This record gives sequence, structure tokens and C-alpha cells, in this order.
Amino acid sequence: MKRLGPELVHDTHEAHRALRADGGVHEVVLPNGLRSWIVTGYELARAVLADGRLSKDRDRTIELVQRHQTDGESTAQARTPLSAHMLNADPPDHTRLRKLVGKEFTTRRMEGLRERVREITGELLDDMDRHDEVDLLPAFAFPLPITVICELLGVPLSDRETFREWSTTLVSSVPPAQVQEAAVAMAGYFTELIAHKRANPDDALLSGLVRVSEDGDRLSEGELVSMMFLLLVAGHETTVNLIGNGVLALLRHPDQFAALRADPSLLPGAVEELLRYDSPVNLTTLRYTTEPITLEGQRIPADDLVVVALTSANRDADRFAEADRLDVTRAAAGHLAFGHGIHHCVGAPLARMEGEIAIGALLERFPKITLAAEPDELRRRASSLMHGLEALPVRLR
Ligand code: HEM
Repeated sequence: MKRLGPELVHDTHEAHRALRADGGVHEVVLPNGLRSWIVTGYELARAVLADGRLSKDRDRTIELVQRHQTDGESTAQARTPLSAHMLNADPPDHTRLRKLVGKEFTTRRMEGLRERVREITGELLDDMDRHDEVDLLPAFAFPLPITVICELLGVPLSDRETFREWSTTLVSSVPPAQVQEAAVAMAGYFTELIAHKRANPDDALLSGLVRVSEDGDRLSEGELVSMMFLLLVAGHETTVNLIGNGVLALLRHPDQFAALRADPSLLPGAVEELLRYDSPVNLTTLRYTTEPITLEGQRIPADDLVVVALTSANRDADRFAEADRLDVTRAAAGHLAFGHGIHHCVGAPLARMEGEIAIGALLERFPKITLAAEPDELRRRASSLMHGLEALPVRLR
């Protein structure tokens, strides 16, 4: 059994390429010490994500994580006050929870937000304009999605430094005690905020959900707190990587940058290609087999853990010709950057819209933008879930 190490984070595409050369599914020990199957081929990834024989039930997953841990304590999954959310649930609970927010994230609703996203983007670019060199992550890629998701949910933006810290802890590889501590603190924050919204309702999403939770048995308080956590964290930890990885890819491929500058109508397709080429999420969250299944002739017993390497599936040459080449004009639709099946990303329409506006406006405002570091100086954030940069220094002119 292969043990995957830091190369999964720091040399992601190379690590996946080596695995794919050996087949589409592998039994491995993940960098956090968890024994799991990892799916690296596109067709298999798509099939696994739509397979009802795999479950995401929270309590059973936690039990299986304990059983499959090869060394020490696991941080991969814990029962915290924030974990009663739809990404840890199967139907019918998943269906019920997802229905409560699904209609808030339709493409049509997101179109209504477009102007506001443009405004926020414009303000951030104005601030950047006062400098010659910036780190694009704190200056642009992070504040845009966090501002948008806070406004959408009705979470005070002024608290963002506080929950940014908790949220970073919760997606990083840190000891279990630290995860619990951050989860308890964040749950306390949401509980207070919910009490405040109960007394002072507004038009944002959280107030709407507070009303639903008062109405009857459709949403418990624990589920409400967990839902806010999921939306807040999923709503920005990922989009920051779309903007960061996407801009880096364009800076490293000046011909593609120039093509996009010359023809902004390529933008929507280019965002799909950037999502495919250097996907913001590396590995999906954990699933487990509820009965034995066979993938590519490989028998996986019941109660084994499975993760899907989205960054790898999206570079599978059997699905995307010359998969390692960035081509903003290619038909990249069908990529798995937002997952697939019943847990396909709720926020995809919002993320696409933010990505288009952010990258389009950045290129227009700073057509001479270049990387202010050697590519091999750039570091990846220590997370096998997320695929993002620590910093992205750029020269604006
Ligand atoms: C689920 C990716 C932005 C909310 C997912 C999944 C992926 C993903 C891969 C499935 C994970 C799995 O099956 O294990 C992304 C990417 C984004 C992005 C790449 C940005 C580029 C957002 C935004 C929001 C959001 C902006 C919220 C506003 C969610 C939620 C789920 C989810 C709630 C769980 C859906 C369910 O369990 O049914 N996302 N996401 N995401 N995402 Fe996103």
C-alpha cells in the first residue's frame, strides 16, 4: 500500500500523474495517516460520486475514520457542533437540508448579485492601484468572496478576521484538540448571531433560515449552526483558490493571458478551463462503502473509506485531450471541480460568477500584471483537501 506524503500538497499534479499511470483507483495511506482508497481517473471519479452505495453519514464516517487510522489521532473527521450539515448527510436528511438553501443559489438569483460583486471588485482594485506590488491573496482573492458570502448570509463583515482564523484552522491539518476548540468557538459565535437575528430579523439568508427553524421540524438549531458554518467556509475557502490558482495559471501562460485580454467573450469558458486546469479542491470529503463494490476490477470491501482526487480527474488525458495544457478556448465543461452527484456544489453559480468578474476586471485594470516571484518560490497551503497557494506576489505594472 502506497503512503502519500507532502508531495500530494506541494507537487499535486506530479503525484497524481504517477498514481494515474498505475490505474484509476488505489489503496493508500493519506498524509494524515488514514487508510483510504483514492480515485484518480475521470470516468471512475464521476461514477463513484454518483454511486448510491457510497455514504457520507456523519456518525458512521467518524467510526470508520477511527478504525482506519494508521497512526495517532485523526483530524480527518470529528463530531463537532458544526458537523451536522448536508455534506455529512445522506438522503433523506441531505435532501431536506439542501432543499432549504438550494433555491437561494440558483443562477437566476446569482445574476441579481452580479452588480454588487462588480462593485466590491472595483473597490478592491482601487485599493490595489495604490501599490506597485501586492500579495494578490489578501489584497483581492480572499476579500472578494468573503465579503460576498457575508452579505449574502447576513454575517457582519467586521467579524471576518475572527472567523477567518477558525475557518483556516478547520480546513488545515492540525491536532484534534485544536479542531474542537475552533469548532466550539465558531459554534458559539453563530449561536449568538442567531439569537441576534431572532430579535432583529433582516432580508439575508440567515434570518430566513432562523424563521424556518422556528416554524417546525424542518431545521434544528444544531443543523442551522452547521449550515451557516458550511456555507461560510465552503463559500470562500474555495473561491479564493479559483482566483489565486486561476490568475497564477494565466501569468504562467502569457499567450493564454493575451488571448483572454483580446477577447473577453472567452471569459466564461476560460473560468471553466481554469477550474479544470488547477482545481481549487484537491480531494473530496470522505465517503465510505456500504457494501462491497468493484472499481476497474478492484474489489473494495464494505466499510472502507474512499476519496476522489478532483485535481487528478480533471487532468485525465482519457477525458481531456492534452490535459496538462492550459487552453482557455477548450471545451472544459464536464470537469469535476465542483464535484458530481447529489453533493455537487450548491455554490457553483456564485463561484463561477465571482471568478468571471474578478479575473476579467483584474486583467482589464492591470494588463501588465506579472508574477513577482520565481514559480518555484510559491508555496501551497498545507491541506490535502484544498488546493491553494500560501501567497501570490504580483507586480501590477
Ligand atoms: C460542495 C467545490 C464554491 C457551497 C462542494 C463540493 C465541491 C465543491 C468539490 C463537493 C464535495 C464532496 O462531494 O465531497 C467548490 C469550488 C468552489 C466552491 C471549487 C469555488 C470555486 C462554493 C460556494 C459555496 C459553496 C461559493 C456557497 C456559497 C457548497 C456546499 C456544498 C458544496 C453547501 C455541499 C453540497 C451538498 O452536500 O449537497 N463544493 N465549491 N461552494 N459547496 Fe462548493
